[in-house]
Amino acid sequence: MCGIVGYIGNNAVEEVLLSGLKSLEYRGYDSAGIALNDNGQIDVYRAKGKLDNLSRVLNAQDFSHKHISQGIGHIRWATHGGATVENAHPHKSNDGKLVLVHNGIIENYKELREELKREGFHFFSQTDTETAVHLIDREYKVLRSLEAAVISAVSKLRGAFAFCIMHHDEPDKIIAVRKNAPLIVGLGNNENFIASDIPAIIGKAQKIVYLDDNELAIVRKDNVTVKDFNGRLINKNPEALNFAAEDISKRGYKHYMLKEINEQPDIIRNVLARRMKDAGSPVATDGLDAGQLFAGVEKIEIIACGTSLHAAMVARHVFEELTGIAVTVEAASEYIYKRVLTDEKTLCIGISQSGETADTITAVKLAKEKGAKILTVTNRIDSSIVRYADGVLPLEAGIEVSVAATKSYTAQLVSLYLLAIAVAEVRHSAAPEVLSGLKQELLELPAKMEQVLGATETIKRCAEKYCGNKSFIYIARGINLASAYEGALKLKEISYINAGGYAAGELKHGPIALLDENMPVLAVLVPGSRTYDKMISNCEEAKARHARLIAVTTEADNAHEGLFDEQIKVPAVSEILSPVLLNIPLQLLAYYTAEALGREVDQPRNLAKSVTVE
Ligand code: G6P
Repeated sequence: MCGIVGYIGNNAVEEVLLSGLKSLEYRGYDSAGIALNDNGQIDVYRAKGKLDNLSRVLNAQDFSHKHISQGIGHIRWATHGGATVENAHPHKSNDGKLVLVHNGIIENYKELREELKREGFHFFSQTDTETAVHLIDREYKVLRSLEAAVISAVSKLRGAFAFCIMHHDEPDKIIAVRKNAPLIVGLGNNENFIASDIPAIIGKAQKIVYLDDNELAIVRKDNVTVKDFNGRLINKNPEALNFAAEDISKRGYKHYMLKEINEQPDIIRNVLARRMKDAGSPVATDGLDAGQLFAGVEKIEIIACGTSLHAAMVARHVFEELTGIAVTVEAASEYIYKRVLTDEKTLCIGISQSGETADTITAVKLAKEKGAKILTVTNRIDSSIVRYADGVLPLEAGIEVSVAATKSYTAQLVSLYLLAIAVAEVRHSAAPEVLSGLKQELLELPAKMEQVLGATETIKRCAEKYCGNKSFIYIARGINLASAYEGALKLKEISYINAGGYAAGELKHGPIALLDENMPVLAVLVPGSRTYDKMISNCEEAKARHARLIAVTTEADNAHEGLFDEQIKVPAVSEILSPVLLNIPLQLLAYYTAEALGREVDQPRNLAKSVTVE
């Protein structure tokens, strides 16, 4: 949700900033801008829309005779104020000497704006950000030091903010500030970088310094000093940057999404190899003491957003089935605005691919305050959510670039299956033969996933046939209700076709009114499961209303060939593990539908990958 970058060094500043922003595009693409310090003169370039528009603005400039030594940049996901050039960052002070980029939301911006207006400051945008610029500028005019002005100003700001700030009169530095929004400093050789996230500095910086909340970094070309908001020095240990350019390349695929879908078998293979020797050995949990974490736990609360929330729904079934512990699942944005009945006998599991989703972090903090133990399941062990955790379950799915989550979902599912098995082993809450059967089946999953990925003709054909429809209904029961929700979410996210996921039994209580020959109904089925016959009845009911029926099912499903207009089949799999396998055709159906419609698959409109505002 907005990406910021900063660079100070001898390389072409505008190019470093642009390539940094390019790798942060998943955080927003409503507008982009950079500010460059050219020998004491600060120039700002901004453009509405995608980064390419800013590139065009910059291409029209001649930078060859300039002496640019530092700059800051921003890619915006609009919150306060529309996607216009005026609202694009960087924002500057009225005298043009101070420039700033911001990620986050300044909650008390209205009061501050009025106060600053009364004092004579002029505003040119509708953003909350511009308030911070004028506030720091006001303090600067008194204190005559950028560092002191920033420290003074942040004590007056409420909300979340990561800033990069430059001042004309202090051209040797960029100041980076972090409070409740991610920010890192990349260390290079006689050059330094600032960024919202690691992809912006991969292949450029050698080491990384993670800023914590309430810290600021004074970043010069040859050194970086970190202080707290009281101005006290903080000693930071730079860490090695363990990523290569390859980690963020498309590897020949047309889109990141397709690449990430195809990476899933290998990711799962690696996860399984690390955690499970064979079906006969106990599951290891990568340094997480499942016995200790679950000791005395009488209730599990799982909190997440978006696709991670769907992984939580699957996990609920798995934990209840294997551990006998009652599980509740809640959208983080709902959890935080009600009476929270959590206590020390509760284990709260926060699932977040990015580890930066503001709602999930707030919910986890709240559960912690109430005494719950916290487990976070995340793809980013360097992320903010990890700070509140008593235990961390890393996904190790690699950097996910496409806004629509795919491989992280599959990794979440498999990691949570393994955790539930490990807990069941420690608590003896499931029969050993059930657990070893599950483990054996898990080991077979990557090969089955490859089979699905290797035979996509039916899926492509369905995508082309149905992409003209305005709406879709996805139905399922039990553990696959999450698959229906996730499949529908994927379709609407990237194709903009309206799609709703429903518990199949609920169809007759309302959604059935929507059915006619223009409404495809996609049913997620598991032959032999306890809900299969009921699913078939629901499909019959839909057929009787002339809906087009698409089954996403397993090879074992031959009994109802005539019922369906289309059948997309995956290898046979048990009901409990079926969400992993059945989800892959749903990802591909969304992908090929979006492709058929010519959508921007990796950067769907209005969305951002990392939602750092509540
Ligand atoms: C955004 C993304 C989704 C993601 C959700 C939760 O909405 O577009 O793909 O599922 O945030 O993100 P998290 O990082 O917490 O899993």
